[in-house]
Amino acid sequence: MENTYHIPVLLNEVISGLEIKPNGIYVDLTLGGAGHSSEIAKKLSNGILIGFDKDLEAILESTKKLSKIIKISKDGIPKAGEALLINKDFKLAPEILKSLGIESVDGILIDLGVSSHQIDTPSRGFSFKSSGDLDMRMDQSQSLTAKKLVNELSEEQLKKIFWEFGEEEFASKIAKNIVKERQNGPIETTLQLNEIVENALPKKVVFSRGGAAKKVFQALRIAVNGELDNLKETLENLIEMLKPGGKICIISFHSLEDRIVKSVFKEKSLGCVCPPSFPKCVCNHIPSIKIITKKPIVASEQELKQNSRSASAKLRIAEKI
Ligand SMILES: C[S@@+](CC[C@H](N)C(=O)[O-])C[C@H]1O[C@@H](n2cnc3c(N)ncnc32)[C@H](O)[C@@H]1O
Repeated sequence: MENTYHIPVLLNEVISGLEIKPNGIYVDLTLGGAGHSSEIAKKLSNGILIGFDKDLEAILESTKKLSKIIKISKDGIPKAGEALLINKDFKLAPEILKSLGIESVDGILIDLGVSSHQIDTPSRGFSFKSSGDLDMRMDQSQSLTAKKLVNELSEEQLKKIFWEFGEEEFASKIAKNIVKERQNGPIETTLQLNEIVENALPKKVVFSRGGAAKKVFQALRIAVNGELDNLKETLENLIEMLKPGGKICIISFHSLEDRIVKSVFKEKSLGCVCPPSFPKCVCNHIPSIKIITKKPIVASEQELKQNSRSASAKLRIAEKI
């Protein structure tokens, strides 16, 4: 069946935002199930599609799906009319693209976060709703897991993660309870952790939230996958690689990511930033992008009805000057 792996969010908005040129070079940094990339590939004739995902399952799924639409490069050197799928962290994209001889591109898509497939596969450990090992790795070859963090970090370190990456107001109590619980043996599963979090929260908070452990799971996931590490620098480097007129579309799912995207866009779109009292410009700052979306694009009523996971998606688009 189509799209059981992941339903792409804001698909039409992304595709029209990218203004795809049939001969252009497009980079999808978060392939997932290639929902967005399939539509990009359909619009290319002699163009090139480069896709990244650090999850091998996503690369395999995308290869299967995209091979019905576009030729998949076999020798690792993408040619006109081909797609190359790369199983690496997208933070390495600028240097990998340059090593492929690609100095500039026509469009970039980043659809941050996890895919439905990752969340809905209990053994991946992303969901507090189903029983699984406390794993949460997007890249299953890395050694750091959520289990390691939950069982080995100090109370203070856990509190910091829950507060900074989950904006969890009960971070302190939850961290304390985790450290107490692990004296009885390691915390191994998602449901075990979910129960510890529920017990740490006031009853009315448990009932008022759509999932008591949602923030804690988000925080651990961000920490395990280093989701915010160097995101700002990566975005800046990617913007540098856009051709004039090229578009960058970024979808984020929580305020921590969106804040970074918003601030990079703002910084890159500004002209002179010298204080008004300066007689002449000394900063030499020139804008490198034009922000297309003054406010982020969110899902329509219709999309929300069809895909509840689109509810927190925010799309920001900018154009290289
Ligand atoms: C929301 S899904 C993308 C869904 C995709 N747009 C689609 O329509 O099917 C995000 C994907 O990005 C991948 N991902 C997240 N952060 C990454 C990173 N830093 N490097 C590479 N892949 C990453 C995840 O493994 C996941 O498969």
